[in-house]
Amino acid sequence: MRRVRTLGLLGTGVIGGGWAARALHFGIDVLAADLKPEMEEWIRGAVANAEASLARLTLAPLPPKGKLSFTTDLQAMARQADFIQENIPEQLELKQRVLAAVSHHAPADVVIASSTSGLMPSDLQRDMVAPERFLVAHPFNPVYLLPLVELVGGRQTSTAALDAASTFFTYIGMHALRVRREVPGHLTDRLQEALWREILHMVNEDVATTGELDDSIVYGPGLRWAAMGTNLIYHLAGGESGMRHMLRQFGPCLQWPWTKLEAPELSEALIDKMVAGTQAQAAGRSIRELERLRDDYLVAIQQVLKPYNIGAGATLRALEERLYEAAAAGARARIDAADQPLRLVETYVRPEWIDYNGHMTDSRYLQVFGDATDALFRYAGVDDGYRRSGRAMYTVETHVTHKAEARALEPLYVTTRVLEVDDKRVRLLHSLHRRRDEALVASARQLYLHVNTPPGKASPMEAGVRARLAVLQAAHASDQTEDRRS
Ligand SMILES: NC(=O)c1ccc[n+]([C@@H]2O[C@H](COP(=O)([O-])OP(=O)(O)OC[C@H]3O[C@@H](n4cnc5c(N)ncnc54)[C@H](O)[C@@H]3O)[C@@H](O)[C@H]2O)c1
Repeated sequence: MRRVRTLGLLGTGVIGGGWAARALHFGIDVLAADLKPEMEEWIRGAVANAEASLARLTLAPLPPKGKLSFTTDLQAMARQADFIQENIPEQLELKQRVLAAVSHHAPADVVIASSTSGLMPSDLQRDMVAPERFLVAHPFNPVYLLPLVELVGGRQTSTAALDAASTFFTYIGMHALRVRREVPGHLTDRLQEALWREILHMVNEDVATTGELDDSIVYGPGLRWAAMGTNLIYHLAGGESGMRHMLRQFGPCLQWPWTKLEAPELSEALIDKMVAGTQAQAAGRSIRELERLRDDYLVAIQQVLKPYNIGAGATLRALEERLYEAAAAGARARIDAADQPLRLVETYVRPEWIDYNGHMTDSRYLQVFGDATDALFRYAGVDDGYRRSGRAMYTVETHVTHKAEARALEPLYVTTRVLEVDDKRVRLLHSLHRRRDEALVASARQLYLHVNTPPGKASPMEAGVRARLAVLQAAHASDQTEDRRS
């Protein structure tokens, strides 16, 4: 299977738009195809809208954004894409027909995946050319913020296609959940559907309003579900002996008529109650407003979960580790080439970094200089493994001098010099430059202390780390360029 540089989208509605935003953000070009030409404007709007919250998901250094193009020529898209994600309406015959047509034009090493919420991959791949490269990749709305994607193979799907899809989705920051065998609704929608049927019953029987039922989740189980699923949570409910005790204690309830999994009839009266209930919950807020609120807390929850390395926080942490490592690898190559001075970070002023004067805001200087330090220390051997062993570099002092302005989208780079290194301390000088005229925008002098993290005490750094930094210090000692004196 080929490396994915261009993602082809088939259908550019809610889900296609979400895929586009996520892929573009992580540096993948997107070729979006839809029958309706007016969807071009729609998808560009959807991507811009998603970018507002997506941009706050991680501060890790990102590759340059991908480019979005649009076509109504499905065959042209199929010929050019390295990976195709289908997102057309949920109708079996329509999907079968369109997937078969597209498979005639896409080379056999191009994976084709469907976003279907519940159709079976064996049915969808039936008429395709090279059906072994087809699978279901079921995402969740908003695709650009929720990391889960269920991967489901059909009878003819190859392991190579599932592996390639897994690699690609992980690359764009997702948690690829391999479903062992195909079942209608896959895993998540089957679970969601059970809850949904109970909701419809309870609204139908006037047991509760839509708002009360949402409260019954939001103030309780919903908080737990963000990081632990029902099974692990019930294991905790059993006390010291866990799930075994829980099943003994609550097992008899399974015989009681708590649930009614057959769905109720969707009568007009029930529809009216559902609509009136949710309108009352929305309390005059538009869908766009509610989406923004949802996106903001989804970003915040993932950031909160990150230090606990659990659930979506673990996915975000792994993604950031990869992004920092990729940035450091680029820097490492430049260090090895003995570039003088070291160019450790190449970036540009992202629109959300701007203050009310239209310039890059203070805190972003620290972020960019921090990224340069991160790349340098990784080169020296202070990486995630080193930190997990209970040793780290702590910032003791930072002195930033501002010299010139940086405006939105301005390309920038950071050069770094090791001024001093001893057993426990490293002194660095970073210089931030505008790429267009090489002007010095700001410099930062920083002092780092090597710390044994459990007691939080200064300690000697590993000999190899010190030696690598000392080599750089010696190389930089002779450098007398202007920004060194700033
Ligand atoms: N909406 C969700 O929450 C959600 C979540 C996960 C998966 N899905 C699945 O994603 C798929 C798409 O759902 P959606 O909500 O984005 O639908 P949508 O109606 O918003 O978008 C469908 C798009 O497909 C286009 N289209 C229709 N026929 C086409 C064809 N023959 N060729 C190219 N484009 C065509 C339409 O013009 C439209 O833009 C469905 O299979 C759905 O089950 C939806």
